[in-house]
Amino acid sequence: MSEALSKEQLTAIATQYGTPVYVYHAETIENQYRKLSSAFRNSNTVFFYACKALTNINILKHVKQLGANVDCSSINEVKLALYAGFLPERVLYTSNGIAFSEIEEAKALGVNINIDSLSNLEKFGKKFGHSYPVGIRLRPNIMAGGNLKISTGHEKSKFGIPIDQIDQILQVVEQHNLHISDLHIHTGSEIKDVDVFVKGIEVLFSIIPHFKELEFIDLGGGFKVPYKEGDVGTDIDLLAEKVKAAFDNHPNPGGKPLQVWFEPGKFMVSECGYFVTQVNVIKETSAASFVSVDSGFNHLIRPMFYDAYHRIENISNPSGPLKEYAVVGNICETDTFAWNRKLNEVREGDLLVFYNAGAYGFEMSSQFNSRFKPAEVLVKNGAPHLIRKRDVFEDLLRNQVEVL
Ligand code: LLP
Repeated sequence: MSEALSKEQLTAIATQYGTPVYVYHAETIENQYRKLSSAFRNSNTVFFYACKALTNINILKHVKQLGANVDCSSINEVKLALYAGFLPERVLYTSNGIAFSEIEEAKALGVNINIDSLSNLEKFGKKFGHSYPVGIRLRPNIMAGGNLKISTGHEKSKFGIPIDQIDQILQVVEQHNLHISDLHIHTGSEIKDVDVFVKGIEVLFSIIPHFKELEFIDLGGGFKVPYKEGDVGTDIDLLAEKVKAAFDNHPNPGGKPLQVWFEPGKFMVSECGYFVTQVNVIKETSAASFVSVDSGFNHLIRPMFYDAYHRIENISNPSGPLKEYAVVGNICETDTFAWNRKLNEVREGDLLVFYNAGAYGFEMSSQFNSRFKPAEVLVKNGAPHLIRKRDVFEDLLRNQVEVL
């Protein structure tokens, strides 16, 4: 939970660009990427940044410059990645539940593709046969992740082709002479226990001998980052050690050494992000002292949607006495960011910062209540750059067709 940007820097940015504003620190992303590449330096591993966490084009370009690849969850993310300058071979499209036409489009763009349904695998086989290497997204039936909403590999999950349908998968592969280059799993987000990844590898090793042209094993993303004081994230060094040992113990029966892929989203960009809001009103009631900020779940939905915890600080009164507050939004819903939260005494007009807001913060924002989406600022080499303007009134009407 680094605080690479000081209260003074964040205050200056809020003063210059207004609030609410997302602020990202480029060097923190770099540090996170270096932690991964250094831990895995002795193994054949490639990292694909799961850009669904944060797709601002400047973040994509920054990640590209660092040397990472990119994982996409929609054809538009694929197009953004290519627009940012990633070569097609460095782009991965791990889809779920999509129309076959998007897979055709991705193939035409020359990117790596993981297919997550028997139906699309069959269509791909019929149309392209052996001509284009493709990956299969499997559901390994492993329960993992911080909460059920972000668990994706268990027996009731919609994601991937259930591993128990391996006979059907092999039938499709054989019938169409498919060139399967990659097997993929992603079991969830916020996985602290590195043994979950080892378990995933073991599940995959039980079926690997069936795939003779395999080159890559993709273990997905989901590394846990600390959100709360005292939280412990995934031990990346231990993960690297255990993954390497697992592969050393299972040489690929096909002969070729397998390259391991990971798709980290939160790990790459959660910590780099600060969401700065301003206090509109304070309402003293018998239930709580409500601190209402100029935002809501229209801008940061994680606390309401996942009960996620974000550390909050009053950067305008850092030495004020600690008091307990309910931090809420200003939209017409019960948009509670935090109950019973101790903050330095809050006054109307103060700036409250939400930490670890880089991943799935702006990215999941909306214009609900016809409020503007926030601005985004990137701090690189100490200098702030506006990388997305705050919405203006015209943005609310954009694409609406007035027929009355
Ligand atoms: N790969 C695949 C196939 C995924 O579905 C995801 C996340 C990732 C990689 C990256 O996972 P990460 O490293 O970021 O945990 N909005 C939720 C998280 C949803 C994650 C969806 N898939 C949140 O804010 O907690």
